[in-house]
Amino acid sequence: MSTSIKGYNRLAPVYVWLERLAFGNALMKARLALMSELKEAKQILILGEGDGRFLRRAFDLVPRAQFVVLEQSPKMIELAKNRFSSSELRHIDFITADISTALSPNLKGQFDVIISCFFLDMFETAEIRNIIETFSPYLKGTKYWYYVDFRQADKGWQAFHSRVYLRLMYWFFAWQTGLKTQDLVNPHSLFEVLGFKLIKRNVTHFSFLTTCLYQNVN
Ligand SMILES: C[S@@+](CC[C@H](N)C(=O)[O-])C[C@H]1O[C@@H](n2cnc3c(N)ncnc32)[C@H](O)[C@@H]1O
Repeated sequence: MSTSIKGYNRLAPVYVWLERLAFGNALMKARLALMSELKEAKQILILGEGDGRFLRRAFDLVPRAQFVVLEQSPKMIELAKNRFSSSELRHIDFITADISTALSPNLKGQFDVIISCFFLDMFETAEIRNIIETFSPYLKGTKYWYYVDFRQADKGWQAFHSRVYLRLMYWFFAWQTGLKTQDLVNPHSLFEVLGFKLIKRNVTHFSFLTTCLYQNVN
């Protein structure tokens, strides 16, 4: 088992408390900020879901959707599954896999939206490019990538605040999960080069959190 999987398995039961300690409810607000745009979605793919808190909210907000969740940590998946009844679980497929090996026969179908919350921040530029290139063919026509993540604020004390928090977080995840990436990549230009257009954006929490709705215009 990889250091990353072991690390996230270990963190899974306390993840919610670490998040609340560091950010209160701000990350959940960012995750949900533009979900009203996705009300009509029928097929949703979530990359690196974590412990299922967002999945639970998304399931309630988009009740007619079928979900596919790609997540490497069995412990995170176990916590996520526990949030649903057995009849609700019929609408969710969990794929326990590393994203780099996920393009197996396990991943079938065409999606209205791909969601990544606080997930692409773990990868370097070339890896993010590879993830977007690999997964965007799974979008139905001109559909969406819902991107939620940290951002480096541009100016003043907010820039200082985001730099300090990012350093602390990258140090923590390197220690706990063996994360190699140490710098946050802003994937905006990658989305654009790969045929996505930003159609809505929300920035919160001292300009440190961003929620972006990209549309595939290829
Ligand atoms: C930083 S957490 C974010 C969790 C959640 N999306 C959130 O909003 O808090 C990253 C999640 O992605 C999963 N993950 C990390 N690397 C992965 C990979 N290579 N393939 C699939 N999942 C991965 C971890 O197990 C963890 O649950």
